[in-house]
Amino acid sequence: TAHEEIDLKRFIRHVPDFPKPGILFYDISTLMRNPDAWQLAMGRLARQVAPLKPDLLAAVESRGFLTAAPLADRLGCGLLMLRKCGKLPGETISHTYDLEYGSDTLEIQADAIQPGQRVVVMDDLLATGGTLAASVALLRKAGANVVGASVMVELTSLGGRNKVDAPVSTLLTYK
Ligand code: PRP
Ligand code: MG
Repeated sequence: TAHEEIDLKRFIRHVPDFPKPGILFYDISTLMRNPDAWQLAMGRLARQVAPLKPDLLAAVESRGFLTAAPLADRLGCGLLMLRKCGKLPGETISHTYDLEYGSDTLEIQADAIQPGQRVVVMDDLLATGGTLAASVALLRKAGANVVGASVMVELTSLGGRNKVDAPVSTLLTYK
C-alpha cells in the first residue's frame, strides 16, 4: 500500500547539540505530527508486539507515554505508567538507578500488576539502556512477567540492549 512506501526514518528529525553539546537528538515530534507516518509506525509496532501477547503495556514517563497509549489501544491490552518520583497516588514501589551523573528513580503503583501478568515495557528510544533496564527491574519487583521491551528508535552503538534483561524489539535503528 501507499503507507508501506513511506520510509519512517525520513520523519525523524536530527537535532545536533541537544540537550547538550555533542549530543545528537533523535526527535520523534516530526514523525508524530504526520498522520500517515504516525499510523504506519503504530501499525508496525503493533505487529512486532502483538505476538508477545501482553496483558499490559508499561509506559515509561514521559515520551514512552506517547507510544504506549496508542499501541495498547491497538492491541486491546491494558496500560500502566512508570513515573518519575512522587507523581503516583497510593502505595508505590520504586527503583533507583545510576545515571552518568547522579541517579534517578522510577515508580509504579504497588497494585498495578497481578502476579504473573505478561507485561511489555515501552519507550520512545533506547540509548544507554539505563532507563529500560531500570524499568524491567521495577516491573519484576511489582510481580510482572516481563515478556519484552519495545522502542521506536534504538541507538545501537551504545550497546544499550545488552543491559536490558528482556528481548528488545525496535522499529528504527541508528548507529
Ligand atoms: C529519554 C528517552 C528514553 C531515555 C533513553 O528520556 O525518552 O526514555 O532517555 O536513554 P537511556 O537508554 O540512556 O536511558 P528522558 O530521560 O530524556 O526524558 P523524557 O522521556 O521525559 O523526555
Ligand atoms: Mg524518556
